[in-house]
Amino acid sequence: LSILHPRRELAGKRLLVTAAGTREPIDPVRYLGNRSSGKMGYALAQAAAARGAEVILISGPSGLPVPPGITIKRVETAAEMHNAVLADFDAVDIVIKAAAVADYRPELAAEQKIKKTGDTLTLSLVKNPDILYDLGQRKKRQLLIGFAAETEGLIEHAQEKLRKKNLDMIVANDVTLPGAGFNLDTNIVKLVHRNGMVEALPLQSKQQVAEIILDKICAMLTNST
Ligand code: CTP
Ligand code: CA
Repeated sequence: LSILHPRRELAGKRLLVTAAGTREPIDPVRYLGNRSSGKMGYALAQAAAARGAEVILISGPSGLPVPPGITIKRVETAAEMHNAVLADFDAVDIVIKAAAVADYRPELAAEQKIKKTGDTLTLSLVKNPDILYDLGQRKKRQLLIGFAAETEGLIEHAQEKLRKKNLDMIVANDVTLPGAGFNLDTNIVKLVHRNGMVEALPLQSKQQVAEIILDKICAMLTNST
């Protein structure tokens, strides 16, 4: 690792990554979830640690091995992730929000297992807080990197999220492409920058995508000092 990154260019920097999906309880045995595996976020955490960063990984449920040398904080729901991220935000220099946060949660988690008494079942959902939006409102010196998972209008939607959430860069992910997105070892992404520049990356491993994202972050840090 020291051969790959002889300068350890993230030494002295604190980087927070969120990874995997959240689970929103329906009753004691069921939850609302999504297909995120955590692979992209864990690859980012590992690659940042290899560059010398002090890494905090805030992870939804995931069976992936925790890379050595990083601090992991496990959460389950979007509300728990929200609290964990806000607790550390002021102390970090860089945040990468790779987690797939549930947009809605059941309004009430039933205390007992829901029995199959009716022919249909309607769940009432309420909106979760947008963690990244809150960080964008609070940010001072931090670099804020988001992800956008889209099935259409990739660049337009990603640019809108970058603006609305006050991000420094957004990683736009067309999850309909073969080789991109949830639970794969590869990804195909476009990096959308604040100045409107869009860089399309070829299909490659999530480790390689992580290295390129960190290259961009290192360049942004250099330009801002
Ligand atoms: N995000 C977040 N908190 C939420 C929802 C999303 O922090 N409650 C973050 C994700 O971690 C990601 C970015 O916002 O970095 C974009 O997530 P995405 O689901 O693509 O966008 P949304 O803003 O949720 O909009 P929509 O799902 O309607 O496209
Ligand atoms: Ca969403």
